[in-house]
Amino acid sequence: MRVLSGVQSSGRLHLGNYLGAMKQHIELQDEHECFFFVANYHSLTTVQDAEALRAYTRDVALDYLAFGLDPAKVCLFRQSDIPEVTELAWILSTVTGKGLLERATSYKDKIAKGITPSMGLFNYPLLMAADILIYRSDLVPVGEDQVQHVEMTRQMAGYFNNTVGCEVLKRPQAKLNEAMVVPGIDGQKMSKSYGNTIDLFDPPQQVRKCIMSIKTDSTPLEAPKNPGRCNVFALYKLMAGPDEVNALEERYRTGGMGYGEAKKMLADVVERVLGPARRRRESLAADPDYVEDVLTTSARKARAVAREVMADVRDACGIVTAKDTGC
Ligand code: TRP
Repeated sequence: MRVLSGVQSSGRLHLGNYLGAMKQHIELQDEHECFFFVANYHSLTTVQDAEALRAYTRDVALDYLAFGLDPAKVCLFRQSDIPEVTELAWILSTVTGKGLLERATSYKDKIAKGITPSMGLFNYPLLMAADILIYRSDLVPVGEDQVQHVEMTRQMAGYFNNTVGCEVLKRPQAKLNEAMVVPGIDGQKMSKSYGNTIDLFDPPQQVRKCIMSIKTDSTPLEAPKNPGRCNVFALYKLMAGPDEVNALEERYRTGGMGYGEAKKMLADVVERVLGPARRRRESLAADPDYVEDVLTTSARKARAVAREVMADVRDACGIVTAKDTGC
């Protein structure tokens, strides 16, 4: 089974990115052949500062490695190291109706938030479909907001195959990341655009301070508290072990514990997860050649697959290229 997913490099990653996607990607590395990439061409739809884009791209790779992605098992590469992807996106655009893209809810959401409706933003699902189809991926682990894009990918594969009259492109399946709502410090879904994130690689004191500012209700210290309606508890449940969760739940229900104490306990478990990753990230960041090597070696493997599929695609639709253009 070939698993593929991409993460955009459009800002620093937060706890919601980790729990909702990266952690689940990394867990798949022992069971499947995994391809994970940094979607830096996609990021160009929102990041237009070269220096920032370079830094974010490198950050995503570092973050994955820091959390235990094993480059001996997984291909971890940059989207831009596989130029066949943009070529396939063009070809898919010639068999895909504009109506399909107009129905993309993520596009509508983004323009409603004020992101410029460039052609790149509109064509985003075409590039994502090319990312997936170029490796003949079987399974695409994504969050709920991306499921429609995977469905569109299946449709585009069908349009292409029907047009050329043979099954060149393989239809992938979406694998919904374990449905979990990661609340931000204000209780809404954790998201960069809401400004309510707990960032993964801020200094520890800053992470702690951010956790201490999580919004809670005004139940007095002595009173029993409802764990089901508390943002601190919701985050604790996502990070701590089952016995710890049961113990905290008991204390909520009994009363006599203030939210401040619960926040301190949350800060401790968050540090337990982030601490080792932070240290690993620091040592990786000190050796940029190592990260570059990982990305290059992986890109070679991924590109070998992409070249083969692209050759089939060109052949099926009659695109002829010179064997060797001498450059
Ligand atoms: N659109 C995805 C996101 O924002 C990132 C992405 C780009 C992706 N290409 C992909 C995810 C291919 C899965 C497969 O989260």
